[in-house]
Amino acid sequence: MFALVKKLLIFLVLLAIPNFITAEERKFNLGKIATKTEIAGWDIDVRPDGLGAPLGSGSAIKGEEVYAEQCASCHGDFGEGLDRWPELVGGEDSLDTHDPVKTTGSYWPYASTMYDYIYRAMPFGVAQSLTHDETYQVVAYLLYMNEIIDEDFVLNDKNIGKIKMPNVEGFLMPDPRPDIANVNGNPCMQNCNTPTKIIGKARDIDVTPEEEKS
Ligand code: HEC
Repeated sequence: MFALVKKLLIFLVLLAIPNFITAEERKFNLGKIATKTEIAGWDIDVRPDGLGAPLGSGSAIKGEEVYAEQCASCHGDFGEGLDRWPELVGGEDSLDTHDPVKTTGSYWPYASTMYDYIYRAMPFGVAQSLTHDETYQVVAYLLYMNEIIDEDFVLNDKNIGKIKMPNVEGFLMPDPRPDIANVNGNPCMQNCNTPTKIIGKARDIDVTPEEEKS
């Protein structure tokens, strides 16, 4: 009986700790409670099914202009990627080859992720400077260049989660890879001697410069 009471007490103390910490923080008046507007500024994620997509719309025809002005200087007029800036268009049927070309068209599983990423991170150096409509326009333009939608298709917050991307089946959900090695069906917790195969991929994809022998 006593043990039960003790357990219950420990449980109640544990429950109280988070509240206690908050109370302490308030007591010293450190920080402040975020306002709804402040939270809205951070709450910009757009989920694969389109949840979180802000109100707005845009077509590829309009997107061409935004793209030419704000993206083409790095990603090329046709998404081919200038110098070593990433390419955004093409690469279909290359994923299972020796040199896969991963672009928004060939690789990305969701159009809504293109929205999320572009609004969040592009143009490089001036992130989050596009309006919501400009972002829809430029995503539409990239989808059009990748031959996923027609040029007059109007992309918006309602349909962005429904675009079928070519490589959506290439992603397995949930991730089937085990977090830890299995030994005879049991998770290995120590001295796991997992066989490792060195494949030299870095040299294959040319990210390791060959050293000139003098
Ligand atoms: C100053 C050069 C520059 C400009 C301008 C620029 N980007 Fe990028 N972009 C980059 C770089 C660098 C990366 C890679 C960033 C990284 O991996 O962290 C990138 C990555 C991307 C990616 C992800 C590519 C992938 O497959 O991983 C997309 C999509 C993208 N940019 C779209 C855009 C769009 C749309 C615009 C215009 C609104 C734009 N970018 C403007 C330099 C630029």
